[in-house]
Amino acid sequence: MNEIAKYPKGSKADHTGRRIRVGVLLGGASAEREISLASGKMIAENLPKDKYEVVLFDSLALMAANPKLSPDLAKKARALINHSVNQEKLTERDRQLPAKFKQEIQDAVASAIPATEAIEVVDGKRRIDVAFIGLHGPYGEDGTLQGMLEILGIPYVGSGVLASALAMDKVMANKMLAAESIPVPEAIVIERENLDKDTLNRASAFLPAFIKPSRQGSSIGMSRVAQISDLQPAINKAFEFDDRLIVERELDGREITVGVLGNRKIKALPVVEIVTRGEFFDYQAKYDPELTDEICPADLTSELASQVQNLAIRAHRALDCHSYSRVDMIITKDRGPVVIEVNTLPGMTINSLFPKAAAAAGISFNELLDRLIRLALEE
Ligand SMILES: Nc1ncnc2c1ncn2[C@@H]1O[C@H](COP(=O)(O)OP(=O)(O)O)[C@@H](O)[C@H]1O
Ligand SMILES: [Mg+2]
Repeated sequence: MNEIAKYPKGSKADHTGRRIRVGVLLGGASAEREISLASGKMIAENLPKDKYEVVLFDSLALMAANPKLSPDLAKKARALINHSVNQEKLTERDRQLPAKFKQEIQDAVASAIPATEAIEVVDGKRRIDVAFIGLHGPYGEDGTLQGMLEILGIPYVGSGVLASALAMDKVMANKMLAAESIPVPEAIVIERENLDKDTLNRASAFLPAFIKPSRQGSSIGMSRVAQISDLQPAINKAFEFDDRLIVERELDGREITVGVLGNRKIKALPVVEIVTRGEFFDYQAKYDPELTDEICPADLTSELASQVQNLAIRAHRALDCHSYSRVDMIITKDRGPVVIEVNTLPGMTINSLFPKAAAAAGISFNELLDRLIRLALEE
């Protein structure tokens, strides 16, 4: 057994002759829990084993006593701590995922241990050297977990507290992007307490529009609304996920996404075009390869490709992102490329958009994961 291998330059484990202990944080308490389990499992499997000792940690365990958890999740969190979880009960939405994806979810649950064991505050044997955050949505992608890791002094992959919190909140992110003259959709904000007739009238002037919970991902809770009669039901649905909603005028054009990678030397990856057979890039379309074509590199003139790549880097910087992000856009006829959102923890299964774009740039999945850890340990 060769435990001694090359270590990333400047990392803690450089001189000690032991592998770097990576905690892949996955699962968690958001509506994207299942996606995160599959994503985290693939991250763990593809991290180079000669350099890294990998442990899967379910971050849901950290929230066992949090009164905001649903009774179901609180029960699951306690079971996790007692090491008695080995099957994930899937929601209706997740039962429709491809079989292979569902298998990944179950495998992840069977091998994950409670994240409470990753964070020993003294130099315990179980303390991790670096966290790879394979989480999505609130309590993972929104800066809260990043804040906890800052307090513990554990380096982590990706953006810090501020960028994570900003990018997770579509309303706040759009304000920051607009302040840097980056085109964003025309939108109005609805707070649960200010939903009155006047707001509804203003929203109906935007149809066809997208109604989204401000802090959510994977298209969960969002709808495309074309008729006034569908507006109130769409608003009610979005309110199930957040107290703040954004209503955006529909952008007409080709949908693309651009990965950004690096810190000091920051680069945009080749552009990916997303062609969905459904109405828009919804939850099922995101995780079922049968429902969407993802074309990489996208068939764009080199001029337009450079333009959207530069825009992606500007958006990444405007939100103060770190290491990597993926910027979703629509190329409109009248306004050119418009940014619809910045993802600070883009999907990381081998078939996800960011790894696909990296592959087109000659960066394999293993190499990408390795590079992200090195970027996290650089400072
Ligand atoms: N303003 C818009 N105009 C047209 N399509 C949109 C708009 N906003 C969102 N979409 C569609 O909905 C999908 C999900 O929206 P997005 O804002 O990226 O949310 P999420 O965080 O859930 O990915 C997009 O990939 C796109 O297909
Ligand atoms: Mg998106």
